[in-house]
Amino acid sequence: MTSTTAAAIAGPRFYEADRDIASPNRNLTPITTALDGEGRLQVGGCALGELARRYGTPLYVIDEDTLRATARAYREALAHHYPGPALALYASKANSSLAITALVASEGLGLDAVSAGELLTAIQGGMPPERIVFHGNNKSLEELRLAVELGVTVVADNWHDLELLAALAPLQPVRLMLRFTPGIECHTHEYIRTGHLDSKFGFDPDQLEAVLRHLLNCPWARLTGLHAHIGSQIFELQPHRDLAGVMAEALKLARSLGHPVRDLNVGGGLGIRYVSSDDPPSIEAWVRTVAEAVAAACSERGLELPRLLCEPGRSLVATAGVTLYTVGSRKEIPGIRTYLSVDGGMSDNPRPITYQSHYTAVLADRPEAEASDTVTVAGKHCESGDVLLKDVALPPATSGDVLAVFATGAYNASMSSNYNRIPKPAAVLVRDGMAELVQRREQPEELLRYDVLPERLRPVA
Ligand SMILES: Cc1ncc(COP(=O)(O)O)c(C=O)c1O
Repeated sequence: MTSTTAAAIAGPRFYEADRDIASPNRNLTPITTALDGEGRLQVGGCALGELARRYGTPLYVIDEDTLRATARAYREALAHHYPGPALALYASKANSSLAITALVASEGLGLDAVSAGELLTAIQGGMPPERIVFHGNNKSLEELRLAVELGVTVVADNWHDLELLAALAPLQPVRLMLRFTPGIECHTHEYIRTGHLDSKFGFDPDQLEAVLRHLLNCPWARLTGLHAHIGSQIFELQPHRDLAGVMAEALKLARSLGHPVRDLNVGGGLGIRYVSSDDPPSIEAWVRTVAEAVAAACSERGLELPRLLCEPGRSLVATAGVTLYTVGSRKEIPGIRTYLSVDGGMSDNPRPITYQSHYTAVLADRPEAEASDTVTVAGKHCESGDVLLKDVALPPATSGDVLAVFATGAYNASMSSNYNRIPKPAAVLVRDGMAELVQRREQPEELLRYDVLPERLRPVA
């Protein structure tokens, strides 16, 4: 389910409401959110308004404690609820950077990458290759060559992948997983639904047996696992239960054909709270459901327990992130709407314009002031649809005020663009009152780096 209600009015002491330290995906804000002595909002012990003034805006703030808490929640729930070996792989498409990779690696998680860029970030961020899986529905030969050289597990999505891998003629057998579409419907935005049959991802289930038989004759391939992913921002648990049965059937088939398949990778998909009316399951509940369903489905079929892999992205990093903007112009259209424009928008957070997503925001220096104004927070890009929050209640805000938008740690920085040639924001990691720059702010001149002006078009001096 996507967040379908209007953006939330946070309300006084919102940061203390339904605080769930063990499952931050159920919180609106990072677990360290608090007020400082002057009533200003702080995260990781750092006043957000001060961070905005020190580092400039837009600014992505990442709370280390929240990120570590979610990573631990996955690790501990898997250890507690699954009777066999298990590993959570961070779906780095949610937010790929050296710092985030280093944090999740230090928490003992693995990682899922989908491009050469994400692979290189993972390796340089310290993720061991044996904990990396490489996805993608249209991998290039160069990307596959890199994956093979690095020794990561390749998730074959289609016949094209297998042809390219065979052409590479790897000297050592490649660890391979097969991704297939499990034919499971779930309620989420159609752009982030992937498990139904009409999907560009994975082998059609009808082809699974043919692929498995084909691989028996590929000396370069060592099939270690099966993979399926049903979608993202999902609040229901039943589709994940259903997936376990479908995957156990596939595992039975693979093993009966002689593949010593060890891993069952059930993908990601757990939703988070963007607005107060969102009510996602906890990480613990999600893991328990998946773990029990996989264990039961395997035991019903007499299968030795596989290693259970899952790939959380959003639920691992979203709540750790807060984006800070500076308020600029204000336009009041009597009887219609008041627009408050900020210095970022769809280039640093394309989710509202892409998925009609909703967010929660407050003024960083006056989070508890009465929200007596109804405004629409617009971005600075040349699109009428560049709106971050529609008709939300905020205290009266003027130019220079800092706006904090919550739950922006996933699919914001990683989906950002340079639309209108706007530089990408900086990112800081906060913890115990300390802020560290982990992504430098792009400069306008740097955007010209890849432009080439042919000699004949050069302006004459
Ligand atoms: C293959 C795969 N695994 C994991 C994920 C992560 O999903 P989420 O961020 O919903 O946990 C995605 C996201 O689309 C995906 O495509």
